[in-house]
Amino acid sequence: MKEPRIPNVTDILGGRRMRRNRSSDWSRRLVRENELSVNDLIWPIFVIDGHDHVEDVSSMPGVKRYTVDRAVRAAEEAAKLGIPGIALFPNTPNELRDDDGSEALNPENLMCKALRAIKAEGIPVGLITDVALDPYTSHGHDGLLRGDTIVNDETVDQLCRQALVQAEAGADVIAPSDMMDGRIGAIRETLDANGFSERQLMAYSAKYASAFYGPFRDAVGTNAMLRGDKRTYQMDPANTDEALREAELDLQEGADMIMVKPGMPYLDIVRRVKDTFLVPTYAYQVSGEYAMICAAAQNGWIDYDRAVLESLTAFKRAGADGILTYFALEIARKLKQ
Ligand code: PBG
Repeated sequence: MKEPRIPNVTDILGGRRMRRNRSSDWSRRLVRENELSVNDLIWPIFVIDGHDHVEDVSSMPGVKRYTVDRAVRAAEEAAKLGIPGIALFPNTPNELRDDDGSEALNPENLMCKALRAIKAEGIPVGLITDVALDPYTSHGHDGLLRGDTIVNDETVDQLCRQALVQAEAGADVIAPSDMMDGRIGAIRETLDANGFSERQLMAYSAKYASAFYGPFRDAVGTNAMLRGDKRTYQMDPANTDEALREAELDLQEGADMIMVKPGMPYLDIVRRVKDTFLVPTYAYQVSGEYAMICAAAQNGWIDYDRAVLESLTAFKRAGADGILTYFALEIARKLKQ
């Protein structure tokens, strides 16, 4: 066989060698463009009824549901680690769920009890509350069901009342995740008119009708009840321009921050929102994303620590100012070491 002609790589490179900067740890650190910090983290916690009790969420290894007193301790731990924000989600006792989600307006509901208890301890952490009716409705939808329609305007009326009850209980950031039209403007006006003009609004502007929410619905107990799907209000995963339109409207209506959800499959949306509007932009690494990483690691198919850090760094690279993630507490511990 004739010896093939292979070019000389030095000639081709002409001195340009990308690997030089990667050759040592100090150099890799020096050229690093994005770095995860504890200040980027929002930790979601699930609240259950009862006293001095913690429950596992079976589809989310390591994630717990806390009674209010335990949620206070959890919030304390997060604050000690320097986590700036906590997002609260209630698992409402089934007997308190009804067609109209009226428990959402009860100032003594689990969410409000948790808010007051954490505030009473003066824990230095921002409290973010979810505005949507799904943890309170017997049909599992985020809005009011009339016939087979989730009605918009009547739902927004109820969401304004829900937001107000949360603000009164101490919510710092009200985060509507329901995807009704006009709710950001209506809630902003409600808060302003009732003495809460300083409370922030984080709008879930681009929330997709995603398959990745499964374990969350298990955590808040809505999986078994959800009638149909949420595609008449949550966005079609195929769309991207529509996400910008949603974010634009929410900003016009008074949103202080924009949330994109889910996270990892939607990093393109995070980047577009950030580049287009130059506003605080967040991503929600949802329950299914968490479960996938845990399951693969448990099977020995991926390295858990590296996969978690890589997934969170990807959000930074995409331009996110923060990440709502179930890994928040443990990654905060690791960042501290
Ligand atoms: C709905 C809501 C959802 C999540 C949080 N609030 C999605 C849904 O059930 O449609 C999902 C979060 C997660 O999967 O981690 N208001």
